Amino acid sequence: MKVYKKEGNVLQILCFPDEEVEKGDYLLIEEPKAGKALIAQVIDVQFANVPGILEELLRSSPDGGNIEGADFDPLEIAPHITYIQDSRLLICKVRASVNNGQLSPSKSWFPSRSRSVVKKLPVSRLLEAIQARGELPIVLGETKEGSQLVIDASSLDGRLNIVTGKKETGKSHLSKLLVLSLVQYGASVVVFDLNGEYAGLGYSSDGARNAYYHRIHVLTPGRNFKLMLGQLKLRVILSILVHALHLPGTSAREFRHIWKTLKEKNELTLYALGEAIRNWRCNIHVRDALFSRYYALVNSGIFTDNPSEASSLEEFLFKTREKGGAVVVNLRDTSSIDRQIMVEYVLGKLVELLSNWRLRAVFLFAEEAHLYLRETYWDDIVTRMRHFGIFTTFITNQPDSIRSSIYRQADNIFLFNFTNENDLEAVSKATRVDAETVKSIVRDLPPRHCLVLGRAVKDFPMVVKVRSLDVKAMGRTRLFFEKRADLLEKVTVPLEELSKASG
Ligand SMILES: Nc1ncnc2c1ncn2[C@@H]1O[C@H](COP(=O)(O)OP(=O)(O)OP(=O)(O)O)[C@@H](O)[C@H]1O
Ligand SMILES: [Mg+2]
Repeated sequence: MKVYKKEGNVLQILCFPDEEVEKGDYLLIEEPKAGKALIAQVIDVQFANVPGILEELLRSSPDGGNIEGADFDPLEIAPHITYIQDSRLLICKVRASVNNGQLSPSKSWFPSRSRSVVKKLPVSRLLEAIQARGELPIVLGETKEGSQLVIDASSLDGRLNIVTGKKETGKSHLSKLLVLSLVQYGASVVVFDLNGEYAGLGYSSDGARNAYYHRIHVLTPGRNFKLMLGQLKLRVILSILVHALHLPGTSAREFRHIWKTLKEKNELTLYALGEAIRNWRCNIHVRDALFSRYYALVNSGIFTDNPSEASSLEEFLFKTREKGGAVVVNLRDTSSIDRQIMVEYVLGKLVELLSNWRLRAVFLFAEEAHLYLRETYWDDIVTRMRHFGIFTTFITNQPDSIRSSIYRQADNIFLFNFTNENDLEAVSKATRVDAETVKSIVRDLPPRHCLVLGRAVKDFPMVVKVRSLDVKAMGRTRLFFEKRADLLEKVTVPLEELSKASG
């Protein structure tokens, strides 16, 4: 390989036919005597555009072969021409430079065309050099070379992460892997599980309990999770009423009075609340507004007056404190309003427990958060809540459901395949990466492969084939034709037959 051009941090490298290089590979451009080097990543491979190549290709077209006679090549240049025809141009992005053994993000060093040596840099070697593996290793999977890609759990700590990609590419699978790894290291995790997929984390694929069984707590609102009104703080019930149930301000003020009166009498029950609204002296519209929200609360099935049915979120969260654990909030089969009620409650509770230090920090995994997270929470989550100790991972197959301001603040992004231009555009807004890298690499990712960007890989984008997990599959898409060919299954193509048929 030879250095051809450098424009800003884009490096063009000539690659000869006997050298195997693919998109995503890393190269070391070294000037041994100067003790300097650049680390660059191949983001595109093209044919080398040498003058005269088009003519040469036309001349050697199959029809040319039918002409009788012998080829006359006294200077024996034919092999050289084929060599040139198959040469490629590698478009690379400089990721870092090395100066006397020191890695630095500076990209300004200019390598010599004549003296520099270009070599392939194995990802395993690069991972070692950047010390991605720390004391809390998480094996994400394999790199293309077959070495393990290991990140450190602490690179997720205190961070905002995004997992995105098109449908059925393996996003939830990766999130489960991250959840279990965090739990293994003793972290408290809360999952907003939209499709009831995480309930199987405590079981292995054959249905037997696995090592995590006692650390995974699945809460299904209305079924094994109900609350008494007395467990709620006024602030939390008000945010449920105002944000999830859209109670207008004047009615909210009346509700505050009703709540305080009931609390003083120690009568915070659904029944007493209904009676109080009925008998409260107020404007009829206010009463109607309060009643409609009251019935929404009653119908959600999340609230109960029966102490033996009630459960406590604190208890589950406290269970995760010692050895780590995950509280999975199963939002499958819940209506959009009930979902929002539950999410308001859980987030309110988390902030309460974290702000008085009864919990240290929580990793929050939110699947398709735009379906239940209210507008004002988005910015809250990346700013205020992060300071309280809620570290969020958003998982979505609609990248434009996450605002660009959130992408810009994301510390780690796990990208699966996208082909749609709009989706690619939305994703490439993340400032931690340049748009070209994202667009070029992500478009070609096979299912279950993901491009890891950000702190976890010290800003060296890397592709990984996510490892499999021995957990019970839940929440699979229901199908009518059970034996539908799985999209991810390999399709064998008889190339010989195809070639014969194409004649
Ligand atoms: N690395 C992997 N190893 C083994 N199986 C995997 C892997 N990744 C995904 N799968 C399987 O592929 C299927 C689809 O994966 P998953 O549900 O994670 O996709 P998704 O991107 O979350 O899809 P959706 O957009 O529908 O939520 C699942 O059955 C999952 O178990
Ligand atoms: Mg999913």
